[in-house]
Amino acid sequence: MHTTMHLIVVVSGSVPDLGMREAERVLGCDVERVGRRVGLIELEGARLRSALAKLYECVYIQEILLGKAWTDHPRPEASFYYELGCSSEWSEVIGKTFAISVRKIGGFPSTPSTELIASVAKAVHSACNGQCNVNLTNPDVHIRLICASDAAVIGIQMLRPRGDRFRLRSNKFKVFKHPASLTPEDARLLVNLAGDPELLLDPFCGTGTVLAEAALKGIEAVGLDVSTEAARGCWSNMKLFSVDALCSVIVGDARRPPFRQESFDAISTDPPYGRLATTRGAGVQTLQKCLLSLSSSIVKRSGFTVFMRPKEYSSQLHFDGLGIVEEYSVYVHGGLTRVVCLLSKH
Ligand SMILES: C[S@@+](CC[C@H](N)C(=O)[O-])C[C@H]1O[C@@H](n2cnc3c(N)ncnc32)[C@H](O)[C@@H]1O
Repeated sequence: MHTTMHLIVVVSGSVPDLGMREAERVLGCDVERVGRRVGLIELEGARLRSALAKLYECVYIQEILLGKAWTDHPRPEASFYYELGCSSEWSEVIGKTFAISVRKIGGFPSTPSTELIASVAKAVHSACNGQCNVNLTNPDVHIRLICASDAAVIGIQMLRPRGDRFRLRSNKFKVFKHPASLTPEDARLLVNLAGDPELLLDPFCGTGTVLAEAALKGIEAVGLDVSTEAARGCWSNMKLFSVDALCSVIVGDARRPPFRQESFDAISTDPPYGRLATTRGAGVQTLQKCLLSLSSSIVKRSGFTVFMRPKEYSSQLHFDGLGIVEEYSVYVHGGLTRVVCLLSKH
C-alpha cells in the first residue's frame, strides 16, 4: 500500500518563482504554489528520503516540513492556529517530547504571540490524548509554524539546510581563483535547473565551479575554456575537490566546439560578460548567440540549457525556434542584475 505524504517547502523571498522551479527540476515533479514563498509537494512515502536529500541541495530552499498548509484567508489569531493544530495529524508525536517554533514570513501582520504557540501546543497535546510532553531544550520532534499573510503552515520540521553548506568550495578555498567565478550556490542552481543529466557541459568553465557542483551530484561534467591557464587551473580545482574522476577539462573555443551533435544531456554555464572575465575580443552578444547555437546542436532533444546573462543584454537575444524559454531576474548588486535562463528544446 502506498502512503501519500505532503512536503511543504519554504523558499527564499528574493526570487520565489526560481526557488519553486529549482525544487521542481531536482524532484522531476510539480510543486503546487500555495503561497508566495510556500510550495506543496505530494509524493509517495517511499520517495521521502530521496526527496529530502535532493531538496537539501537546493539553493533557494530554506526549510522543509511534513505537514499541511492553509491558504483560505489565514487569520493571525491564536484561535485560528488552534483549529489548524486540531485538524492536523500528530500520531508521530505520541509518546514523545516536542517543541514548537514559529517563523513569520511575507507580510504576516504581527509577531506571532506566545499565546498562538501555546494554543498549538494545547491542540497537539489533546490530539495525542496527553501522551506527549513539551521539551524546549532537547525535543524528539520539532513542530514548526510558518505564518505568512497568504498561507499558514503547520507541520513537523524535516530539514533546515545550513546557509553555509556550499562555503568550502567558494573562491577563497580554490587553488585557482578568478574574480569572475560564480559562487558555488549560483553554480549549484545552474546544475539543479538542468534536472537530472548524466553528462553535462560547461563551455565557459573558468575555475570549474559548475563542474564541481555537477560532479558532487554524481553528474559527469565536461569543461571547455579558451584559456589554457583557466583550463589548467580548473583541473587543479577539480583535484582539490576530489571530483576529477567525474570531470574532464578541454582547452577550446566555444565558437568552434570539438563535440558531436547531441552529445550532451545538458549545458549549465555562465558566459563572460566582458567585465571581469575576458571575451577574448568577441562581443558579449556573440558569445551568448554562440551558446544558443551550441544548445541547438550538441544538447540532446530532451535536454536543457541553463545560463545567466546580464539583464542589459536581454532584448538582444532571440530565442525564436529554439524551444521554450523561462527567465528569472536575480538582483546581484547595484551594477548587476542577472537573468537566469532555462531553455528546453520541446
Ligand atoms: C565568467 S568566466 C566563467 C567563470 C566560471 N563559471 C567560474 O565559476 O569560474 C568565463 C570564462 O569563459 C572563458 N572564455 C571566454 N571566451 C571563450 C570562448 N570563446 N570559448 C570558451 N571559453 C571562453 C574565459 O576564459 C573565462 O574563463
